Amino acid sequence: MSTLGWKIGKVAVLVVALGGLYALAVAKQLEREDIRQSPVVLTPACAEKLAKYGLVAGATYQSPYLLKHTGMAVATTGYTEDDVRAIQRGCNIIDDTQGRQAQSVAEERWNATRFIRGSHVSCNHCHQGVGDKQDAEGNRLLGSLSLGASWVMADMYDRFTGLLLPFELRQMQCYINSSNGYKPNIADDLIRDVTAYTRFLSAALGLQIGVSYEEQGVDEIPASHTGKQGDDYIRGEAIYRAKCQHCHGAQGHGIEVNGHLIGPAVAGPNSWNMQSRNYFYYVATILPGFICRNMPLGAENTLTNQECRDIAYFISNLPRPAGDKQGPLVALQQQALMRIMPPLLRLTDAAMERKHPEPRQAPAAAR
Ligand code: HEC
Ligand code: HEC
Repeated sequence: MSTLGWKIGKVAVLVVALGGLYALAVAKQLEREDIRQSPVVLTPACAEKLAKYGLVAGATYQSPYLLKHTGMAVATTGYTEDDVRAIQRGCNIIDDTQGRQAQSVAEERWNATRFIRGSHVSCNHCHQGVGDKQDAEGNRLLGSLSLGASWVMADMYDRFTGLLLPFELRQMQCYINSSNGYKPNIADDLIRDVTAYTRFLSAALGLQIGVSYEEQGVDEIPASHTGKQGDDYIRGEAIYRAKCQHCHGAQGHGIEVNGHLIGPAVAGPNSWNMQSRNYFYYVATILPGFICRNMPLGAENTLTNQECRDIAYFISNLPRPAGDKQGPLVALQQQALMRIMPPLLRLTDAAMERKHPEPRQAPAAAR
């Protein structure tokens, strides 16, 4: 073959390869467009929430919640059919990030699990009430990590990075650290739909840009707001055993029954990592604040500040995944600890029981 023929051949191969990739990208785009146009099957919690806020397409939008709570009928710009579907998908993603209630995780949740390492994490575990936790009267709650209130912080100064972070980047942080996962692209549908939903929440609740609300973020608990007895592992463990273990497990690995989570992991492979703001040694005020305001589920606000600090300290001493900043050696060490500790502890527990057997049956007279 002549050199010219050889050259043309090489170029042809390149063109076919690149053309193939291009065709694949176009096909993927079309697939995504299809998903965007498909009707959304809401999770029960989202169906209830969005019905309560009267989400329908139209030229104007009026929030029934605002009318009820302020007596004022305020009409704002309405939503298109496209907007409504994005809001609905965003709500589903917060409520059911892992797609446990979806027919197809890839389609209905934009394959969100590709950005999360463990099998437990759902945004709703920490941003409760589908990012909008309220009491029975519809009052928003102090330190409930409300996503609607968070949206109106707009480009928020972030004291940990020293940067002004837009809402999209703050979502990304939660994938990387609180979900021990990977960073979605800033323009990913996953991020955009959640942004659409949270923006809708802020409109439905009548929240104003730049205003601080008590439901925004965590009601942080510094040591100065306690009995100043120091954070105590032993006290923390005792309260954890009494008040948390039956839902979150003896080692904090969470409890799952028939695919249903009784409580998600607070330590171990399915939990947040050492670079998360929930990790006591990184930020000591956030996890205690979360626990005091949002746990034990169903009995919130029953623990003292000191108790929450103690439990948070205990939880943070259980092995969990390393974050990006800890490097490969710590990552390896944590993986080893997470896998070796639980069976070892089960062994010592069993040995203890043989030494000091607990009475299996209460005496008849005491019953
Ligand atoms: C393990 C708990 C946890 C999980 C799971 C979690 N988050 Fe967060 N998230 C937090 C905490 C704690 C903060 C507040 C950090 C701070 O105050 O600096 C936060 C902050 C945010 C913020 C910034 C707003 C604010 O109030 O500071 C956004 C947006 C966000 N999370 C979105 C998400 C999304 C989306 C998911 C699901 C992929 C998710 N989060 C999962 C705990 C969690
Ligand atoms: C009745 C069961 C139950 C009890 C008791 C309970 N939790 Fe939870 N916990 C849950 C559930 C369920 C969630 C997920 C939140 C949701 O779905 O609303 C959760 C979420 C959490 C989270 C954040 C999400 C995550 O991924 O870890 C932490 C931290 C937590 N619990 C700590 C505690 C602590 C500490 C106690 C004890 C003081 C406690 N919980 C008691 C059921 C429980």
